[in-house]
Amino acid sequence: MFYPAIRKVLFQFDAESIHDITIKGLKTTGKSPFNALYKQKVQDKPVKVMGINFPNPVGLAAGLDKNGECINAFAAMGFGFVEVGTVTPRPQPGNDKPRIFRLPEANAIINRMGFNNKGVDYLVSQVQAANFKGVLGINIGKNKDTPEENAKDDYLHCMRKVYDLATYITVNISSPNTPGLRSLQYGEALDELLCALKAEQTILAEKYGKYVPIAVKIAPDLNKEEVESIADSLIKNNIDGVIATNTTLSREGVEGLEFGAEQGGLSGQPVKDKSTEVIKLLSQALDNQLPIIGVGGIASSADANEKLKVGASLVQVYTGFIYQGPPLVKEIVNGL
Ligand SMILES: Cc1cc2nc3c(=O)[nH]c(=O)nc-3n(C[C@H](O)[C@H](O)[C@H](O)COP(=O)(O)O)c2cc1C
Repeated sequence: MFYPAIRKVLFQFDAESIHDITIKGLKTTGKSPFNALYKQKVQDKPVKVMGINFPNPVGLAAGLDKNGECINAFAAMGFGFVEVGTVTPRPQPGNDKPRIFRLPEANAIINRMGFNNKGVDYLVSQVQAANFKGVLGINIGKNKDTPEENAKDDYLHCMRKVYDLATYITVNISSPNTPGLRSLQYGEALDELLCALKAEQTILAEKYGKYVPIAVKIAPDLNKEEVESIADSLIKNNIDGVIATNTTLSREGVEGLEFGAEQGGLSGQPVKDKSTEVIKLLSQALDNQLPIIGVGGIASSADANEKLKVGASLVQVYTGFIYQGPPLVKEIVNGL
């Protein structure tokens, strides 16, 4: 494949401009014959997780296709599932630019996007237009200007809007770029949120005649007690899955590098072991009562196998995909 040559050109430009151009390109070509530029056949590696049949266990992580504009394009690259979002009830611009930084020496990215997205109604229109038949995760969040005490209402609003279109719904409570969001991971706030979402899921399952699983996405910056407490809450509230992990606030592995001190969430190689450790702790605490989707620093099939070995049932990639492009999907799937 010629992705290394393409990357050389892409990496000459500012990260967000290239991202926007790429998304436009993928949006227009996703269902057209031009998708031959990136379409590839990967081996079938079917797995059943959360009651869903996945053609293979390798997914696109949330945040790359925030508005659900390129679902068919990513599926054509061989991903077994595509997660879109994070989407919020109302459109919002996100933080000031620049807000995404490449750290190639560490195979890493720092971002402080801040849930820039066109709002849930727009995402719904895109998902409807895509008419995608594969496994689609829709990742939901809260608007920046929604007070923390009303966060639940934002999640419920998004859940109602996307329920009928999603194969599963991810509740993102772990982005470091929305003030206060990560506090929803703890104690009563978490229990209250999960209880409300579960009750709504029951109502929506009845209304639409189908059960759409809920997965909760957590941070890598949690100690053993915190992971155990989250696991208890997930079990108690009958949540269907957990995604571990989001980006880290740690700067271990990027100290002294250009952009290494930028604010935001760090992803890629430096988060790999932290994420694996959280998966390991979760796996012990959950004792197979709900499945784990492993994400964080996966850049090869060996990395993916490591996550599966410590307890993940599925994996997702983001930063590795930015550095290696579609060939990475094939390498991981075929190497599992
Ligand atoms: C630029 C960027 C934007 C992201 N946006 C989101 C997001 O909107 N919602 C979310 O749940 N995770 C988001 N993430 C986190 C990724 O989905 C993933 O959990 C994290 O980057 C770790 O995986 P990786 O090392 O493979 O990138 C984002 C990551 C990056 C690099």
